[in-house]
Amino acid sequence: MRLTDEEFRAMNGPMRRFFQRRIEMPIFRRLGLRDQDLDILEVGCGPGYGAVLLAQLRPRSYLGIDIMPEQIELARKQWDLPDAEFLVMDASEMSPIGDASKDAVVIFDILHHIPKWREVIRECYRVLRPGGRMYLEEPSGTAVRLWDMVFQWNHPREALFGHRELEEHLGATGFATVRRIGLLVFGSYCARKDEAG
Ligand SMILES: C[S@@+](CC[C@H](N)C(=O)[O-])C[C@H]1O[C@@H](n2cnc3c(N)ncnc32)[C@H](O)[C@@H]1O
Repeated sequence: MRLTDEEFRAMNGPMRRFFQRRIEMPIFRRLGLRDQDLDILEVGCGPGYGAVLLAQLRPRSYLGIDIMPEQIELARKQWDLPDAEFLVMDASEMSPIGDASKDAVVIFDILHHIPKWREVIRECYRVLRPGGRMYLEEPSGTAVRLWDMVFQWNHPREALFGHRELEEHLGATGFATVRRIGLLVFGSYCARKDEAG
C-alpha cells in the first residue's frame, strides 16, 4: 500500500534514519545479521537507507524492492551504492525473484502496510535458500491503531496484526523462529528456513 504524504515525509526524514541506524540495525546484528558475502533482499526498502546500513556487511549482492516508484527513485539517486540494485515490485508477488536465491531477507517495518502480509511472508520463505534467515521488525497492531488515531496515517485494517499472530504465521509458513527481541511496542525477529527447505 502507498504511504500517505505525511508518512512518506516522516519516513524520509533524519529521525527515521536515526532509529534505523542506532536501534533497528544493532538489534538485527544481535539477532545474528553479521555475516559477510550474503545475497540479501530488502523488502520495502523505502528510500534506501537500509541498503547503506547493510552495505557494512559487504554483501555478495543486495536487491531492494518497494511498491512506490518515488521511493525507488530516491534510493537509486541519493546514495553512492553502485553494487546495490533497486526495483519497483509488490512484496506479495515477487515472481521475478527466483526460488531459493537469497541468503537473507530483511524487513524494516513494512508488513503493517500490506493487507496481504501473509503472502509477503510466504514469498520471503520461497526466495530464501534452505538455512537462510529472515530478519524483520514490526510494531504491534495495537500501536499502529493508536498512531493512526493521532497521525491519520490510515494503515489497512487487515494488516493490524499482533506479534503473537505474526509468530504463529511464521511457524505456519515453515519458518523456525530462532530469536525474538522486544523493545516497547516493537518486535524484532530472526526466522530461519529449515535446511530441508
Ligand atoms: C514504513 S515504510 C518503511 C520504509 C523503510 N523500510 C524504512 O524502514 O524506512 C513502508 C514501506 O513499505 C512500502 N510498501 C508498502 N506496501 C508494499 C508492497 N505491497 N510491496 C512493497 N513495498 C511496499 C512502502 O512504499 C514504504 O516504502
